[in-house]
Amino acid sequence: MHPLVTQDKTHRCTAEEPRHLADLLRVRPDGVGPVLADRQALSEGPQEPGPLLYTAYRDGVPARFLEPSGSVAFHWRGDFVEYQGGVLADQEPVRSIGHWNATDQLEVFQVESGSVVMLIAPPGGARVWLAAYGPGDLALIPPGWFHLTGSPWGRADVFNIYTAQEGGGGTDVSEKYHSKPPLPCVVTMADGAPRATWLAAQGDGDGPVVPEQRTLPKELADEVGRYDGLRGLLTRATDEELADFAGRLRAVRP
Ligand SMILES: [Fe+2]
Repeated sequence: MHPLVTQDKTHRCTAEEPRHLADLLRVRPDGVGPVLADRQALSEGPQEPGPLLYTAYRDGVPARFLEPSGSVAFHWRGDFVEYQGGVLADQEPVRSIGHWNATDQLEVFQVESGSVVMLIAPPGGARVWLAAYGPGDLALIPPGWFHLTGSPWGRADVFNIYTAQEGGGGTDVSEKYHSKPPLPCVVTMADGAPRATWLAAQGDGDGPVVPEQRTLPKELADEVGRYDGLRGLLTRATDEELADFAGRLRAVRP
């Protein structure tokens, strides 16, 4: 074992988190919650919890604890999400809750099967990127950015890795999803194609929509490819490689 590895800080518990329509509709007492295209239309569905949207398997691959010399210790964690496919009553795709990442957090997504649409935006929402991602495609979420995933075209499997101070423990929903008002922009489907719409009444963002993927620079994507994907990278890369991968991701200009 390499000296960078601290065995007792490597967590091995997988937390299975099913998310239903009721989770998408839930808001805090002060009204902060997911931004929806049409809350009324979504609320008229079956009784709680409503249909399953996706199941997240937190730490499906054990977290990797790293202590790079001269830098703050952190974990690379890996989650796996199975999305149900379809379009909701308000024409939004079956979707994730959507949230702003922590300002010190790196996150990379990779589609393992099926296709998803991802909405990705920088702090302030000066513009949004909206694009489909198919099997093998990668998406980089820079620190502090917003992201939301939808699966309108059928079931889809997505694996993602992210940096965190904690190495396990599932998701604190109120902190992760409801700590900051989401981007006031929604994805809806029209003739099978996703489009992004700003909800002006809920915020001041109205930036342009960029119809492009936000993937990794080729050099980093090639490195992921050498491990047959993010799952292989998290499992088989050495500690030095994982620490280096984080450093090079941080150096990518958003
Ligand atoms: Fe995230």
